[in-house]
Amino acid sequence: MASSTALISDTEAWKDLKGHVEDIKKTHLRDLMTDANRCQSMMMEFDGLLLDYSRQRATVETVDKLLNLAKVAQLTEKISRMFNGEHINSTENRSVLHVALRAPKDAVIKADGKNVVPEVWNVLDKIKEFSEKIRSGSWVGATGKPLKDVIAIGIGGSFLGPLFVHTALQTDPEALESAKGRQLRFLANIDPVDVARNINGLNPETTLVVVVSKTFTTAETMLNARTLREWITAALGASAVAKHMVAVSTNLALVEKFGIDPNNAFAFWDWVGGRYSVCSAVGVLPLSLQYGFSVVEKFLKGASSIDQHFQSTPIEKNIPVLLGLLSVWNVSFLGYPARAILPYSQALEKFAPHIQQVSMESNGKGVSIDGLPLPFETGEIDFGEPGTNGQHSFYQLIHQGRVIPCDFIGIVKSQQPVYLKGEVVSNHDELMSNFFAQPDALAYGKTPEQLQKENVSENLIPHKTFSGNRPSLSLLLPELTAYNVGQLLAIYEHRVAVQGFVWGINSFDQWGVELGKVLATHVRKQLHSSRTQGTTLEGFNYSTTTLLKRYLETSSEPQM
Ligand code: F6P
Repeated sequence: MASSTALISDTEAWKDLKGHVEDIKKTHLRDLMTDANRCQSMMMEFDGLLLDYSRQRATVETVDKLLNLAKVAQLTEKISRMFNGEHINSTENRSVLHVALRAPKDAVIKADGKNVVPEVWNVLDKIKEFSEKIRSGSWVGATGKPLKDVIAIGIGGSFLGPLFVHTALQTDPEALESAKGRQLRFLANIDPVDVARNINGLNPETTLVVVVSKTFTTAETMLNARTLREWITAALGASAVAKHMVAVSTNLALVEKFGIDPNNAFAFWDWVGGRYSVCSAVGVLPLSLQYGFSVVEKFLKGASSIDQHFQSTPIEKNIPVLLGLLSVWNVSFLGYPARAILPYSQALEKFAPHIQQVSMESNGKGVSIDGLPLPFETGEIDFGEPGTNGQHSFYQLIHQGRVIPCDFIGIVKSQQPVYLKGEVVSNHDELMSNFFAQPDALAYGKTPEQLQKENVSENLIPHKTFSGNRPSLSLLLPELTAYNVGQLLAIYEHRVAVQGFVWGINSFDQWGVELGKVLATHVRKQLHSSRTQGTTLEGFNYSTTTLLKRYLETSSEPQM
C-alpha cells in the first residue's frame, strides 16, 4: 500500500503499468475488437445506462492492472472518506459532500459530526415554496406584476452547471411544458456586453434577479449584481430590490450587507465546492423557478442514484471508477493530454463547458495532496461540441492528426423526435448513425491496402489513409429527462474525483485561479488613478506598460 506521503508513481503498481504500455503499443484496436469476450467484459450497465469501453487501448490485463493501481491508491477508502464527511479537502480544511445535496430525506450524511441532510432539505423546501410563489404569481413585483423572467448572475461553478442543466432540459417535453411563458437567462461575464445581452427585451417590472455566489465576493458577480440592482432601482425605486432580487450564497452576512433581505437568501455550505454546487440552491433555485421544483427533484434523484452506485459498487463494476481509471491510463501512461466530450445531443451543448471546469479546475495540479512536486502530469485538456457539429469542425484532427481519447454520449430516445415521410430514417436515427459510426472510424481507420482495392489513385493514398487505433468510449442513455441529466452529471463528477484520488492530488481546491485575480487588482487601481488623476503607469513590465498605455490613450471609458 502507498503510504500517505508516497507518490503513486513510486509504487510497483504504477511501474507495472508503465511497463505494460510496451505490450499495448504492439496492439491495434482493429484486432482487439475481434475478441468478443474482451469486448463483453468492457460493457457495464447501471440504471438504464450502458457504458462500452471496448474501444479503449486496453486489454483485460490492462484493466486488472488499473484496478490494482486503484487498490494501491486506496481508492475505496478515499471514496468512503469523502462520503463520511472527512476533511479530504485538506488545504481548505473542508469536507467534500456534494453527494449530500441530492441524498434522500432520510439519509444520514455527517460533516463535523452533524447530519447535514436535514439542513439540505430545509433549503430545498424553502426553494420549493418560493419557486411556487413566483411561478403561480402569488409573489408579485414592485408594480404588482408577476415575475416571469429570471436572470441568474454568477460565474464559474455558480454558472456553468446550472447553464448545462437548463440547456439540457429546454426541450425535454415535461420541462418545456412547465416553463411555458417563462425565461431563464445567465449573466456571467463582467463584460458589459453580457449585461446588455441579458437585459435586452426584459422589463425590470417582471424580472427576478438571482445573485449566485458562494463567497459573495467574486469581482465579476458583485459588479454585475450592482449593475442589475441599478437597472432595477432606476426603473422601480430602491425599495423594489426586496421584491426583485434574491441570493444564493454561503455568506449570508454579505448578502444582507448588499441589501438583499436575508429571508430571500438561500444558503449552502462550505463543504460544497463551487464546481460541484449545481445540486445546491446554486442550480436548484434558478432551475426550479424555470421548470418547477418537481422536475428539478427528478434531476437530484438521478444524481443520487449514481452516488449510491459509486459508493457501494465494487470497483470492477463501478462506472465512475472505471471511467476515472481509464482517464488515468490515457493521460499518465499512454501520454494523451486531451479528451474530447462529444454528446450526440444538441441539448447537451453546454455539457463540455461545465465538465471543463469540473475536471480542469479539479485536477489541473502540480503537487500531490501532501505538497510534493509531481513527476507526472495530472488532469486533461477537456473540450467538446455536440455531434454532428464537431464532425464538421475539429474531427479531422482527431481522425488523422493527434490522438485524442473521445467520450461519445448518445441518447436512445430523442426529446423531440421528427420523422419525415419518405426519408430513409428519422432525424434522430440520422444523428445516431453518426454516433455509432465515428468510434469505429477512429478505432479501425483505413489502410492503404483498402484504398488500393477501391482504386484510389496512388498520390492520394497517404492523404486518405487513417491509422486508426484511436481510443474512445461510448455511453448510451435511455433518454434525456431531468433524471438522466442528473445521472450524467454525477458520473462525470465522480470520475474526476477518482482520477484525483488515484493521482494522489487534492481535486477540491483551486489555488491556481488566485494569482490572476491579485494582478487584476493592481491593474484596476492603476486604471482608476490614471483616469481620475492622470497618474503615470508604475510597477508594470515593458510589455504591460505598452499595452496599458495604448488602452488608456485610445479609449474613453467614462469615470465618476
Ligand atoms: O474561478 C474561481 C472560482 O472560485 C470557482 O471555483 C468558483 O466556481 C467561481 O470562482 C465563483 O465563485 P463564487 O461562487 O464564490 O462567486
